[in-house]
Amino acid sequence: MTTSTEQLIVFDTTLRDGEQSPGIVLSLPEKIEIAEQLSQLGVDVIEAGFPIASHGDFDSVTAIAETVKGSVICGLARTNFADIDRAGEALQNAEHARIHVFIATSPIHMERKLRMTPEQVLAEAAAGVKRAASYTSDVEFSPEDGTRSDPEFMIKVLQAAVDAGATTLNIPDTVGYAMPSDFAGLISYVVENVKGPDNLVISTHCHNDLGMAVANSLAGVESGARQVECAINGIGERAGNAALEEIVMAVKTRPDFFGISCGIDTSGLARVSKLVSRLTGYPVQYNKAVVGRNAFAHEAGIHQHGVLVDKRTYEIMDAELVGQHTEIVLGKHSGRHAFSDALAQLGLRLQGDSLNQAFIRFKELADRKGQITEADLEAIAHEELQSGLGTWELAELNVTFEIGKAPTASVCVRREEEQRTQTAEGAGMIDAVCNAIRSALGVQAQMMDFTVSSVTGKTDALGDVIVQVDVGGKHYSGRGLSTDVVEASARAFLAALNKAICSDDVPEGVFAQVEGETGP
Ligand code: KIV
Ligand code: ZN
Repeated sequence: MTTSTEQLIVFDTTLRDGEQSPGIVLSLPEKIEIAEQLSQLGVDVIEAGFPIASHGDFDSVTAIAETVKGSVICGLARTNFADIDRAGEALQNAEHARIHVFIATSPIHMERKLRMTPEQVLAEAAAGVKRAASYTSDVEFSPEDGTRSDPEFMIKVLQAAVDAGATTLNIPDTVGYAMPSDFAGLISYVVENVKGPDNLVISTHCHNDLGMAVANSLAGVESGARQVECAINGIGERAGNAALEEIVMAVKTRPDFFGISCGIDTSGLARVSKLVSRLTGYPVQYNKAVVGRNAFAHEAGIHQHGVLVDKRTYEIMDAELVGQHTEIVLGKHSGRHAFSDALAQLGLRLQGDSLNQAFIRFKELADRKGQITEADLEAIAHEELQSGLGTWELAELNVTFEIGKAPTASVCVRREEEQRTQTAEGAGMIDAVCNAIRSALGVQAQMMDFTVSSVTGKTDALGDVIVQVDVGGKHYSGRGLSTDVVEASARAFLAALNKAICSDDVPEGVFAQVEGETGP
C-alpha cells in the first residue's frame, strides 16, 4: 500500500476532542465562529463534534455542516448504528461530509471497558464502517488506544475497516503513551501491512500525556502518515492533543526534512489561537511555541543585537508568517545596541554622553523593575534630554521616616569633580529631600507645582514627577523618574534647579556659594 498525496491533510479536532477538555463549554455561536475561522485558515477537515453525545453536539454539528463551506465537516461515532445514524443525520447538509467511526482495540479497553472479545470488536468495526459508508463515501476509522493494542490484531481490524469502505485509517495514541520512534515504527507497520487503494490515507491522533503529541505526530508523518489530527493551542482530553500550529509550522519551516506541503494560511494562526483561548477560557502559556506571546520576544542582549542586525540569527520562522511580530523586550539583559535602537524607534535620538547616561539609568531601573516598557523608555530619554553637561546630578539619597518624627533626608549631589552633601528635615519625606537639595545648591527655591503619576499604572511602575519651581521670581520645570516616588521627586526638583543654573535669565546671586568636596 502507498500513500498517494504529498500534501499533509490537517484534521482539526478543537471542537470535538478539544471541547472535551475539563471546563470547556462552548455555545453554538461560539462553535460556529471557531469552525468558520478554521475553514478560513485552510483546515482540510473540521471534526465538529460527537452528534450522539448530546442535543447540543448534534445541533452544533448540524449547524456547522450547514454553514461552513470549504472544509470537510466530520462527526464522530462509535460503531453502533445509533451513533452512526445520528452523525449521518447531522451531516446531511454538509458540502463535504465525513463520518469518523471508532472502537477500541487494546486488551485493556476490550476487556474492561467494552467487555467484548477481539472477534466481536473486529466484526463491530467492519459493520460500523459499512453503515457509515451508506451515508458518505468519506469514512474514517480509528482503533482507539492503538498504541497499546497488539499490532497484528490492529492490522486485522484496520484491514476489515478498509474492506468495509474506510478511506482514512487513523492511529490514535489515545493515552499519550508512545515514544516518537515507537510511533514511527507503528505507522510504518500499518503502511506496509494494510492493503488498500492508492488514495487510502494514514492519519495520526496523538495525545500529550508525556509531552510527545507533536513529536509523535511528526514521527508518524516521517513514516508516511499524510493526515495529522490536532487542535488549536493543543487543547484536548487531559494534557491535550498535538497543537495544530506546531505541526503546521514544523512542516512549513522544514520542507527539507518533511518534503510535504500543507494548505494552511499560517498568517491566521495567532488570531485563531487567541480566539480559541478567549472562547474556551484556556490561556496560552507565554512561551508556547508559535503562538505564545514570547515566541518571538528577545530579551538577552546578544540575541537582541543579532535580531536587530538580521532576524534570522535567532528566528527560524518569520513572526509575521504566523501573525505575530518580533519583539525586543528591554530588560536587565538588554545591551546598549537594543536600547538605542528602541529609542530610535520611538523617535528619540540620544548620542554620546547622553546615551551613556540614559543607558546607565535604564540598567538601574531594569534591575529594579524587570521589564522596561515603551512609556518607561520615553520617560528615561526625556529626563536625559533635560539634563546636560555642567549640571548637578543626584549621587546619593538617604531618607529616614518614623511615625511621629520629622523625616530626615541626606542628599549628595555631584557636578563634574565637585560633590556636596547636605542633610535636612521636612514636613514629609519629599519636603525633606527638597530642603536638602536646596541647601546643597545654596538656593532659595519655592516649589510651585508638584504632579506625580505612574508611567505604567502598576505598583512597580515608574513614578513620573513633574515640578514647577520658582527660582528668584522665575519659573523652571523639571521631570524625574524612578520606581520610588521620593527619588523621582528629588530628580525632578534637581532637574528644575539645573535648568535655572543653565538659563541666562536666572537673577544674579540666587545660587549662593556653598562649600563642596572635590573628587569623586
Ligand atoms: O484519543 C482518541 O483515541 C480519540 C479517538 C476518538 C480518535 O479521540
Ligand atoms: Zn483523542
